[in-house]
Amino acid sequence: MKKVWRLFSVLMVATVLVGMLAACSGTTGGSSSKVSVGIVLPTKDEPRWVQDEKRFIDALSDSDYTTEILFSQGSSAKEKENVETLLNKGIEVLIIAPHDGAAAGSAVEAAKKEGVTVISYDRLITETDAIDYYVTFDSVAVGAAQGQYLIDNAKGTNVPLYLYAGASSDNNAFLFFEGAWKVLQPKIADGTFVIANSSEAVALKDKQELTRDELGKILGQVTTNWDPNEAINKAQTHLTAAADNLKGDVAILAPNDGTARSIADVFGSDSDISSFIVTGQDAEKASIQYIIDGKQSMTVFKDVRTLVSDAIGMAIDVLDGKTPATTGSYNNGKVDVKAKQTNVIVVDDENVKKELIDSGYYEASEFTGL
Ligand code: GAL
Repeated sequence: MKKVWRLFSVLMVATVLVGMLAACSGTTGGSSSKVSVGIVLPTKDEPRWVQDEKRFIDALSDSDYTTEILFSQGSSAKEKENVETLLNKGIEVLIIAPHDGAAAGSAVEAAKKEGVTVISYDRLITETDAIDYYVTFDSVAVGAAQGQYLIDNAKGTNVPLYLYAGASSDNNAFLFFEGAWKVLQPKIADGTFVIANSSEAVALKDKQELTRDELGKILGQVTTNWDPNEAINKAQTHLTAAADNLKGDVAILAPNDGTARSIADVFGSDSDISSFIVTGQDAEKASIQYIIDGKQSMTVFKDVRTLVSDAIGMAIDVLDGKTPATTGSYNNGKVDVKAKQTNVIVVDDENVKKELIDSGYYEASEFTGL
């Protein structure tokens, strides 16, 4: 009798676990049941991608198609495992934001072998022909907007310019920096800005159009790897090494909001820094509060609702046997990938309410001092 009870309770626990698993991996329909559209996102540790998960769940709440959202937690091995899990559930479409653009090749090649349509999401998967479509924001425009904001708000000449970038494993990091450099370089060459933290950038200061390798050299020195803690360490190292003429009123190119807040906190606690302009990206809630509080200067708003509806729209077209509409293409080093691109919006304390509250992206009640 005791044995039967024990077996029964083990079965009970297992059933509860499976139910919960279905709940945390964003599955619609039973956990082992067929899934039509698989969605793989880089990590749950960054507010940006939790935002995408929420918007996918909202967009799919009354969809007839079964979907599942899995996170790769910053690991290409986990990403591959996620894709295999979804292939075993019979997906027909894979929407994937890669952790590492090149390393994701083997995962999507496995999907292609099974006849699955692959949509690269936000970040481009590179060096493979195993992707069908790409939905993204205009990443070069993100960087150009960040660079232009520093130019429009810097005062005088010889303004110390601190450069930071995203992870070199992310194709977007190159596009962001390319966009920023194109607008900043003429202002570095004419003495408006003085580069404060990168010998590679100084070596290239008279060149506006940089090659991938040259961009890679600078990124190698100023990357944050999208990690706020690495951003803190880099900023502290740069400020410790900086001579007096590189302090005072400075300009900071921070690649996204997560790293911008970290860098702003470090510069904000250096008594030799009298003021700083710092950029951002993603309109994360915490950074919107920083902008309201005057601790971050701007962010580049990328309306994830649009990216999600573009990706889902493409997936449904594919499932319905139609050819999705695209607006251009990106070369990923191997093939020209048909793409759909969305514009971006600069947000600072002047238009934060209009762009983020009036548009319904966030609630006013989520902020103080608005
Ligand atoms: C980029 C993405 C950004 C961002 C970053 C860090 O690829 O476009 O919005 O926040 O990754 O995950």
